[in-house]
Amino acid sequence: MRAVDIIIKKREGQKLSFEEIEFIVMGYVKEQIPDYQVSAFLMAAFLKGLDYQETASLTQIMRDSGDIIDVSGISRPTVDKHSTGGVGDKTSLIVAPLLACFGFAMPKMSGRGLGHTGGTIDKLESIPGFTVELTNEEFIRQVEDIGLALIAQTGNITPADKKLYSLRDVTGTVDSIPLIVGSIMSKKLAAGAETIILDVKCGSGAFMKELSDAKQLAESMVDIGKNFNKKIRAVISSMNQPLGYAVGNALEVLEVIELLKGEGPDDLYEISEEIVVQALLASGKYDDPQKARDDIREKIESKEALEKFAEFIRAQGGDSAIIDDYSMLKVSARIKEVRYSKSGYISNINTEKIGYASMLLGAGRATKEDVIDMGVGIKYYGKVGNKVKEGDLLAEIYYLNDDSLDDVVLILESETIISHKECKKDILIYEIVS
Ligand code: URA
Repeated sequence: MRAVDIIIKKREGQKLSFEEIEFIVMGYVKEQIPDYQVSAFLMAAFLKGLDYQETASLTQIMRDSGDIIDVSGISRPTVDKHSTGGVGDKTSLIVAPLLACFGFAMPKMSGRGLGHTGGTIDKLESIPGFTVELTNEEFIRQVEDIGLALIAQTGNITPADKKLYSLRDVTGTVDSIPLIVGSIMSKKLAAGAETIILDVKCGSGAFMKELSDAKQLAESMVDIGKNFNKKIRAVISSMNQPLGYAVGNALEVLEVIELLKGEGPDDLYEISEEIVVQALLASGKYDDPQKARDDIREKIESKEALEKFAEFIRAQGGDSAIIDDYSMLKVSARIKEVRYSKSGYISNINTEKIGYASMLLGAGRATKEDVIDMGVGIKYYGKVGNKVKEGDLLAEIYYLNDDSLDDVVLILESETIISHKECKKDILIYEIVS
């Protein structure tokens, strides 16, 4: 087999066999095929597409390129959750303790933030003492003991995805649905859980700006998951405004604690609840969604989920006193208020830019090497459709130094569009794909 023949075949829009895809992908992982040929292959796949069978082959090859987590030693039913990424998306930290309260085990590996989106691992590292690195044995033992563990992705999971993703990033081939499906689903399959809930974000702060694309991505991932015998569903949800109010690591952990105390923002509660409901239904544990919702509410009101979150923090070396003493989270004490400069209705929020503003403050990374400041970020109170008055509070900026403060203020003001006409509220959950 020769790489050039496979590239030409895909360039001509022909279907590739499992062996041909494996030749390219594993040849690249083993450094037998150079970047320039794999780049050409990725562009051909981007332009001509991959059909269902090719996407399934790519997913399987990428899954098997490294370690697969063995969850067979866990006695509880296993569940995993994945979000395609957004701004202020801290749902994993709410969903994981809730599902543990229902008797599930969530052995979850998460990523760090890059660009305008945040990452669960960074958020957890804002908790004093918390470690995101456990050995395989510690990881599985903790999941068995308390029902959840959350760690940074280890070096040996899907090395093919790491290499291909870096190349896609610099060759304009990231936003291809089959390549995204292969990337996400290979990691989810390697993580081993029986039930998988995907939160596919759609809108101004998401990868997928259009509902039709988000739907196609969700359907394709659900189909592939089923092909590998997973119980899988996708929630398609809006990223037309930041989720909750907090954007930035320690601020987001604080908002999670508030929510688990029954005091968090409504939109964050609604999407977290929906993900848990879909996990309970998909796994077969519940068949009545209303009963599932009532029981979730009870786990919040009784503080059982909050106690589980505290147990999880302690298990990973963190100080759970943060639950009552917020000062331990070291949120910056320097706060700048931003107020609406006119009255009207919020018609549009450029959510990607709000995430970008938070990154400028130091809460996120422009490049993988950047070091982040845990205590900075934004509390952004705008929601699409809200009626606002000149002088009302739009946002609070938590900052450490003044370097980018003026730019951040400008972004928050200019990317929040106010109309004199009444506007509809945003729809948070568009659809469930099962
Ligand atoms: N997230 C991933 O993990 N992979 C992609 O290709 C896109 C988003």
